[in-house]
Amino acid sequence: MAKIPIQPYSGYLKSQTPDEDSTLTLVGPGTPGGEYLRRFWHPIAMVSELKDVPMPIRVLGEDLILFRDKSGRVGLVHKHCSHRGTSLEYGIIGQRGIRCAYHGWAYDVDGTVLDTPSEPAGSRLKESLCHGAYRTHESHGLIFTYMGPPDQVPDFPVYDTTVWPEGTELVPLKLDMPCNWLQAHENAADPVHTAYLHSIVTGVQFTPSFAALPVLEFKETPLGLLSIATRRCGDNLWIRASDVILPNVAQFGTGFVDGDKEKFALTAAFTRWITPVDDTHCWYIGWRQFNPVIDPRNEGRKQDIGRNRIDLMGQTDERPYAERQKSPGDWDAIVAQGKIAVRSREHLSWTDKGVAILRRQLRTGIKEVQAGGRPSAPQTYGTGVVPTYNNETILAVPQVDGDDKAVMQNFGHKVCEAALASAHLPVGERQAHVERAVRQMQKDGAFQVTSKDKEDMNA
Ligand code: FES
Ligand SMILES: [Fe+2]
Repeated sequence: MAKIPIQPYSGYLKSQTPDEDSTLTLVGPGTPGGEYLRRFWHPIAMVSELKDVPMPIRVLGEDLILFRDKSGRVGLVHKHCSHRGTSLEYGIIGQRGIRCAYHGWAYDVDGTVLDTPSEPAGSRLKESLCHGAYRTHESHGLIFTYMGPPDQVPDFPVYDTTVWPEGTELVPLKLDMPCNWLQAHENAADPVHTAYLHSIVTGVQFTPSFAALPVLEFKETPLGLLSIATRRCGDNLWIRASDVILPNVAQFGTGFVDGDKEKFALTAAFTRWITPVDDTHCWYIGWRQFNPVIDPRNEGRKQDIGRNRIDLMGQTDERPYAERQKSPGDWDAIVAQGKIAVRSREHLSWTDKGVAILRRQLRTGIKEVQAGGRPSAPQTYGTGVVPTYNNETILAVPQVDGDDKAVMQNFGHKVCEAALASAHLPVGERQAHVERAVRQMQKDGAFQVTSKDKEDMNA
C-alpha cells in the first residue's frame, strides 16, 4: 500500500479499502489458511442440536449435511447428492446412513454408496463412486470434524482441562459471530482489553478486579502462546494466564474473579474453539468447566449456557443495541472490526505483542502446509492427555517499596514458568506440585526482583 502522509483531515487519503490479510483469513478449500485449518479437528455442533432430521451446516466455507443415523453414528457429508445434486437436507435418515429423497440413492456415514435403487440389476454404478464425507468425533456434548486429507488424520487432542480435576463437568456451548474467525480468535491474545472494554471505558462488566491495568507477558509454549496478565488487587497479585492454542483454541479463567481472595487454579473455566463457518461467519464453540478448583465459590450458572447462551456478559448480541452501545461486550467489539478485519489499516502497539506472535505462528503453520508438510505446532501427544498451562492464581505478595510493576511481572513470569516446567508430570499431580513450588517462592520472597530476573524477563 502506498505510504499515506501523516496529516489532519486525511480521510480521503485513507478511504480505499486495502486487501484484508487473505492468507490468514480465508478459509475455503484451496486457500492457504483453509488448507492449514483442515489439518485439525474442529467442533461444529452441540450434540443437542442434532435432531431426527438432517441438519444443513456450513463449515470452512463448505455446504454440508450433519445427521445421526438410526444406529447412532454421526455423518457429515457434502450437501448435494452425488446423483443429480439435490440437497440431502431432504434426505431420509435410515438405520444405516441417509437416503436421498429425489431418486433414492443411499449413503453411509463415510460416503459409501449403499444403494442406487433405480439402476438395473447387476449395475456396478454404486461401486464406481463415493459421496464426499468427513470424519466426526463426539466428545462431552460436542461434535467435531476433521476435514483434511484422509491420510493425515491427527489424533483427537484431549486437553488436561477436560479430564482434571476428576468429576469436572463440561457444559457445551455454541455462539454465533457474524465475522471472520481470526479477529474472534485474536481477542484471546489481547488481554489488555479486559481492563478497558470490560471495566475502565465501559463500566464494570465482570468484576471490579478487572479494572486494574495488567502487566503483560506473552510466552510461547509447546501449544502456541500463553497470554499472561498480572494485576495488583490490594495485597494480592492476580495472574490471568490464558492458553492460546494453535490454530484456533483458547482457554480462560473465570469472569467472576475477586482479587481479594487467594486462589490457585492450574486449569480453565472455558475451553473454546473459533470454528470458521465461512470467511465472514464463525462460532465460539466449546465447553464451560465446572469444578471446585476453578470455581470454589460455585458462581458459574450452568442453566445460562448453551446455544447462543453463556454465563458471561457481552458474548452475544442478545442485549438491546442501545444497551450494547453504552457498554459493548466482546461480541460487539469483535464483530465491529468488520466482516473481515483489515489488518493493513491497523497500528499495532506494544500491548499487541500477543496478536503479532499468534499471526506469526499461524503464518509458519500455513507455510509448512503449503510446502507439503504437516504443521509442526502445536506439539502432539498421541492419544495421551495434552498438558495445558492456563492458570488463575491469586496470592498474597504485598507491595513493598520499589518497582511494583517489575514484581508483578516477575510473579506472572515465575508462576507460569513453574506451570510450564510441570508438563511432564501426571495430570493429577501438576496443580499440587506447582502450588508447592509457588508457595515456597512466596515464602522465600522470590517475587522481589533481582537483576537476573530483569534479564530473564527482557529475554
Ligand atoms: S439427486 Fe439424489 S438420488 Fe437423484
Ligand atoms: Fe473480553
